[in-house]
Amino acid sequence: MIVGICGSPRKQATDYVLKEALNQMEDKGYHAEFFGVRGKEIGPCRHCDYCLRKKECFLKDDMFEVYELLDEAQGIIIASPMYNGGISAQIKAVMDRCRALGAADYDFLRGKIGMGIAVGGDRSGGQELALQQIHTYYILNGIIPVSGGSFGANIGASFWSQDTLNGVKEDVEGFKNLKKTTNMFHRYLERYGPANHEKP
Ligand SMILES: Cc1cc2nc3c(=O)[nH]c(=O)nc-3n(C[C@H](O)[C@H](O)[C@H](O)COP(=O)(O)O)c2cc1C
Repeated sequence: MIVGICGSPRKQATDYVLKEALNQMEDKGYHAEFFGVRGKEIGPCRHCDYCLRKKECFLKDDMFEVYELLDEAQGIIIASPMYNGGISAQIKAVMDRCRALGAADYDFLRGKIGMGIAVGGDRSGGQELALQQIHTYYILNGIIPVSGGSFGANIGASFWSQDTLNGVKEDVEGFKNLKKTTNMFHRYLERYGPANHEKP
């Protein structure tokens, strides 16, 4: 199973391109699940260390839905809009709250495959930094990060939305590098994906 996590509080550009990525993975034979932060309550990590003691998060909110999806997933796609040149606060909260998973099981996420999607209103609005933030989260948690390969999508899928849904639909280059990245994601899942997870 592939889980796509959308870090936008709106049903607009990021939602659209993530769903396109999940459709591409379904076309390759995977079951895909979408989770969006829109309308969800996911508080920021409080660093209370409750998770280190009790092996679960103190905050009982919608993050528990994400924990279940991450448990099942072989592959993870994190998609974020650009906020001040990087990922949104909402997707950062999701990442930080995964501390509780590591507290319960150090290897919880290890060996899964991860790709990133960054959507900016500007052509150069922080997408590269955001992809690096997503890949850093993957590396820190033992998730294998995937690029789209050279000649088009060196560090993942990057979109220019011009701040609208129609704008992102016009981003031909964005969709080209999304395709390259989902192709590479598929290749990694086949070669290096966690064998102990149900497939597809
Ligand atoms: C608080 C805030 C900060 C933003 N900062 C940036 C930015 O630094 N760079 C950029 O390209 N776009 C920025 N934007 C624009 C959004 O990234 C852009 O409209 C994007 O398409 C939003 O994704 P969505 O349509 O999925 O919500 C910002 C938007 C908001 C609300």
